[in-house]
Amino acid sequence: MRRNRKPGFNTRAIHHGHDPAAHQGALEHPVYMTSTYVFDSAEEAAQTFAGEREAFAYGRTKNPTQALLEERIAELEGAEAGLVTASGMGAIASLLWTYLRPGDGLVAHHTLYGNSYTLIAKELPEFGIDVRLVDLTEPANLAEALSDTTRMVYCETPANPNLDIVDIGRISGLAREAGAITVVDNTFATPAGQRPLESGADAVIHSMTKFLGGHSDVLAGALVGSKALVKDVRMRGLRYLTGAAIAPLSAFLVLRGMKTLGVRLERHSDNALALAKMLESHPKVRKVRYPGLPSHPQHALSERQMSLPGGLLAFELRGGLEAGRRFLDKLTLASRAVSLGGCETLAQHPASMTHTSYRGDALARFGLSEGLIRVSVGLEDIEDLTDDFAGALDRA
Ligand SMILES: Cc1ncc(COP(=O)(O)O)c(C=O)c1O
Repeated sequence: MRRNRKPGFNTRAIHHGHDPAAHQGALEHPVYMTSTYVFDSAEEAAQTFAGEREAFAYGRTKNPTQALLEERIAELEGAEAGLVTASGMGAIASLLWTYLRPGDGLVAHHTLYGNSYTLIAKELPEFGIDVRLVDLTEPANLAEALSDTTRMVYCETPANPNLDIVDIGRISGLAREAGAITVVDNTFATPAGQRPLESGADAVIHSMTKFLGGHSDVLAGALVGSKALVKDVRMRGLRYLTGAAIAPLSAFLVLRGMKTLGVRLERHSDNALALAKMLESHPKVRKVRYPGLPSHPQHALSERQMSLPGGLLAFELRGGLEAGRRFLDKLTLASRAVSLGGCETLAQHPASMTHTSYRGDALARFGLSEGLIRVSVGLEDIEDLTDDFAGALDRA
């Protein structure tokens, strides 16, 4: 019985797809620093380019180090296939440009990472895509926004930066009935905390720059889904619509980071919950958003959908924007920086940093307040983090 059991998540994150015997016994997968590949004959080359033979041909579409990373992220997300790219935006743009055509409709949750928001809400309409931004935390809003032309429903859950949680099962069920696919950006939760395909999504996006890489030293992105979808995005989106190919060394760094994803995410989640509780009980804090807190509006859903609440939290001070800025300046251990998912705790102010593309009243309309502070809670000792945050609150 035991022998037939599939290896667990952490075992697969460390070993899946790599056989040392196939690489001179190398425990770690080699980094193939090559841009092109040699064919034995002209015939073989022609067959490869005609798509009649599977082989490496040129580094923009595939490299063996990249291929292992693709196999591993697909395995961890429970997908048929994966594609990795130079950045998260590279994966998103490669997918959207491949899949959508003028006249097609896209419905997206209204709170998104700032550059995803700009691409979806501002750039896609310029190319004739009918984009509708709605609050997908309420599935009835999706039912209203869907039309005959909707081809894709897109969300982040938890969403950047306010940690909104979208019910993937309900959203993807409604989308499927309308003939649309559901794409979930799973950057915040990672496959160690949530597997959207198991809940009904058709494709998953990652900024691997974040928890998957895990050490704030590499940019990378991923898309996983069906073989047909991934092949299409590789041969069109990646090959010539964006050209957002990952460097072999970057793929190696993400493979290295992913080996510890499971243990890191547990520690990120423990630290974030402890910090969220401390902030929630502090008299200067107006509200805290963290999926692991019972006060989060979709807390019950997050417990059903996610196995770990993750390392991101957001909060607002009673003094609003100015108090928030003063607070940021008083932090001494946590760094004032964008990005997330690394070992170091990072704090930032979305309205003036990652989410400046939400201009004017868009911030408030789309569920973001001006004073919100987002924290990527790192792996430091929790006592040091609570001391730093409590001290900054006292001095702010
Ligand atoms: C949720 C989310 N998706 C996508 C991206 C874009 O990823 P990258 O910076 O790797 O291009 C980010 C970046 O912060 C993000 O937070």
